[in-house]
Amino acid sequence: MKILLVGATGRLGTALHATLTKRGHEVLGASRSHTEHPVDLTDPETVRALYERTGHVDAVACAAGSTPYKPLGELTHDDYLSGFLNKALGQIELVRLGLPVIAPRGSFTLITGILAREPIVTSAAASTANGAVEAFVRAAALEAAPVRVNAVSPTVITEALDKYADFFPGFEPVPLERVVQAYVRSIEGAETGRVLELG
Ligand SMILES: NC(=O)c1ccc[n+]([C@@H]2O[C@H](COP(=O)([O-])OP(=O)(O)OC[C@H]3O[C@@H](n4cnc5c(N)ncnc54)[C@H](OP(=O)(O)O)[C@@H]3O)[C@@H](O)[C@H]2O)c1
Repeated sequence: MKILLVGATGRLGTALHATLTKRGHEVLGASRSHTEHPVDLTDPETVRALYERTGHVDAVACAAGSTPYKPLGELTHDDYLSGFLNKALGQIELVRLGLPVIAPRGSFTLITGILAREPIVTSAAASTANGAVEAFVRAAALEAAPVRVNAVSPTVITEALDKYADFFPGFEPVPLERVVQAYVRSIEGAETGRVLELG
């Protein structure tokens, strides 16, 4: 398959790129700093330009997105907006603008996270954005068929504990490889409208 992978330079994206390539797929990596396929999910014009460059794709996978973490009383309108633009609307645009170029039975696999169902202190903006992605996936899948739309929703990733351990006390982490396999299941399988929860 020809797979567009947004967020290909990150921790999860790098692992995904390696596994999908090993499985015989042609993977087109993209991100803001990517030299070959630059894209900023918060700017729909760059998403449109990306699809013009890639042309037809069989699958789109996203491993990008960031959200602000602050105590509830300190979160501003701009914080919520930035979290929503980066994590939710950016991925929604990836689907909206990708529908004309995706294969008839192609798939979109988005990224969300445990904070949609198990919030932590300071996660209000992140939890909101993740919840929006999951609601979008379930709704979009109804109308996109036979194109498929899923999300992968991991708990904190073992390999990211150096950065996030203090935010997730007592949470059992999930190994990166299991998260990668959930993308493989979404891309190569037949499911749609699913939020694949890990942890
Ligand atoms: N790490 C965890 O434990 C964990 C757990 C659950 C869910 N998640 C979610 O998994 C995703 C990836 O996490 P990660 O740890 O791999 O993050 P990461 O290492 O920071 O990588 C993020 C990737 O996304 C790209 N990116 C960021 N903003 C972008 C934008 N606006 N447009 C296009 N590309 C953008 C980055 O590249 P550029 O800087 O070049 O754009 C990079 O390739 C995130 O959505 C995160 O919330 C992570």
